[in-house]
Amino acid sequence: MRTPSLAAIVVLLIAGSLFVLVAIGGGSRSAPAPASSSAPPAPAVSANGFALTSTAIELPDDAATYPPGPHADLVNQRCLSCHSASMGLAQPKLTAAQWQATVEKMRDTYKAPIGPGDVPAIVDYFTTLQGTAATPAQ
Ligand code: HEC
Repeated sequence: MRTPSLAAIVVLLIAGSLFVLVAIGGGSRSAPAPASSSAPPAPAVSANGFALTSTAIELPDDAATYPPGPHADLVNQRCLSCHSASMGLAQPKLTAAQWQATVEKMRDTYKAPIGPGDVPAIVDYFTTLQGTAATPAQ
């Protein structure tokens, strides 16, 4: 029996590859429905018996920054790198001493970049915001 020539092997390999590509390519994919001007489009993609549809989600509101007040800029600089403002805003009314302990915990335990001079200003911000500034320190 005659051995196949190199050219014949190459042609067979190319033809085989093309056949596989066409077979797995499908070719019956439908494009997403075009957006209509009246109703919002319901994006859906279907192929080979599978249908993928998009859905909308609404994330809860979250304060991006701390509200204005004395030293608000400092607080926004020091307190937004790890968690949102709601972490501080959701606290119950705390005394100055309790705020100081919280700020020191952020600094000492979690390594928040807070200088020693920043602590009284940050405490002042929160106690002013909560109306607890007059509470005598313990
Ligand atoms: C380096 C990261 C980091 C920074 C910066 C940071 N925090 Fe936190 N904070 C944390 C972590 C982590 C927790 C979660 C602690 C827990 O779940 O017990 C937390 C929790 C809190 C809580 C919830 C109560 C508590 O004691 O756990 C408050 C209030 C708070 N942070 C305020 C602040 C304030 C005010 C600042 C700025 C002075 C600040 N954080 C900056 C990491 C940080």
